[in-house]
Amino acid sequence: MNFESCIPIKKEWDIVGARQYGRDIAKQIGFGSVDQARIATSISELARNVYLYAENGRICFNVVEEMGRKGIEITAIDDGPGIKDIGKVMQDGYSTSGGLGAGLPGVKRLMDFFDLESEYGKGTTVKIIKWFRS
Ligand SMILES: Nc1ncnc2c1ncn2[C@@H]1O[C@H](COP(=O)(O)OP(=O)(O)O)[C@@H](O)[C@H]1O
Ligand SMILES: [Mg+2]
Repeated sequence: MNFESCIPIKKEWDIVGARQYGRDIAKQIGFGSVDQARIATSISELARNVYLYAENGRICFNVVEEMGRKGIEITAIDDGPGIKDIGKVMQDGYSTSGGLGAGLPGVKRLMDFFDLESEYGKGTTVKIIKWFRS
C-alpha cells in the first residue's frame, strides 16, 4: 500500500471495520501481535471518538517510510464540534468513558507520534504513527 486509504465512520460497526483494517496493515508491515494490539486499540479509541462526538468522519491509513524504517500512520478526521480545551482532554483521568485504551492520553502512550489539532466548532484531526523496529 503506497497510497492513503480511508474508512468512513458513520455507524458504530465502522469502528470494528477500521480497527480490523488497521490491524491487517500493521501485520503486513511486520508488527508483532503486541504492537498490532496497541495499534488496534488506538484506532478503536480514535474511531469511537469520531462516532461519539462528531457523529461521522473518517480514519485514514498510510504506510510511511523514513530513514529506511517503515511505520503505520493513522489519521482520524472529522468536522464535528471540535475540542475546546486540548490541554484538559490530554490530562490523565479526564476520559469520561473509562475504556480500555484510557482515552487520548492512552493513545499517545501507545504510539510513537501523536498530534491533535482541533478547532472549536470546526472539527478535529488526530494523527498517530507507530514505527516498526525490526
Ligand atoms: N473527535 C472529537 N470531537 C469532539 N470532541 C472530542 C473528540 N475526541 C475527543 N473529544 C472530547 O475529548 C474528551 C476526551 O476524549 P477521550 O480522551 O477519548 O476520553 P473519552 O472519550 O473517554 O471521554 C471527550 O470526552 C470529548 O469531550
Ligand atoms: Mg474516547
